[in-house]
Amino acid sequence: MKIKLPYKLRSLLQRLPYLKPVRLIRRRLVSGVEVIEADIGDMKNILDDLTAHTPGAYFDDRPFATNFIAVRKRRILGVVQLVRYPIGEGPFAGHWLMGLYVWPRYRGLGVGALLTRRVIQQSHYEAASELSLLVWEENLPAVALYRGLHFRRTEIPSLEEELLEEKKLLGRRRIVLTLELQS
Ligand SMILES: CC(C)(COP(=O)(O)OP(=O)(O)OC[C@H]1O[C@@H](n2cnc3c(N)ncnc32)[C@H](O)[C@@H]1OP(=O)(O)O)[C@@H](O)C(=O)NCCC(=O)NCCS
Repeated sequence: MKIKLPYKLRSLLQRLPYLKPVRLIRRRLVSGVEVIEADIGDMKNILDDLTAHTPGAYFDDRPFATNFIAVRKRRILGVVQLVRYPIGEGPFAGHWLMGLYVWPRYRGLGVGALLTRRVIQQSHYEAASELSLLVWEENLPAVALYRGLHFRRTEIPSLEEELLEEKKLLGRRRIVLTLELQS
């Protein structure tokens, strides 16, 4: 017989693993996560998995993109992309962090931060002056993650018009966050 829990209790139980004190405890229990560069096979598996529940999932496969994955015991926990858009890409020219995704059961363990730090480290290494990203304004976990790593809201004038049009169409707003890398 299935027991039907009240909605409020169910919702609390779903949120429990992601609450800050629980995140910190879970994080201490997980070790051995490493970030490595993904190969073509990894990216094919990731895309197959993602498109099953996120239609339209996409990773730039041009040569100026590098994919990093977080792995533990050969299992992929999350993925992120560093894209160096050339001048011809208009408002996007420069280093961009794209497609950060942590599989739901591994969220709250520090994997998203680990992947983001790897992209920052690589951008530093390549002497980029800044690293930017786009995030939905209401995506509070992602915004908190990036702000915690010192990304700040910026506006790229030539992109702003496009983002405002997108908001009119979708009712949701993406914002640009940028990390200054050179002092
Ligand atoms: C956003 C996302 C990448 C975070 O990854 P994660 O591995 O769960 O995050 P981490 O455990 O590394 O947490 C790092 C910081 O992010 C913030 N954060 C993470 N989960 C949070 C949550 N549920 N609520 C509030 N803040 C949260 C916190 O600031 C956290 O630091 P803290 O735990 O020291 O407070 C993950 O939730 C995800 O994949 N979401 C779906 C895809 C997505 O939104 N990607 C971002 C595209 S721009």
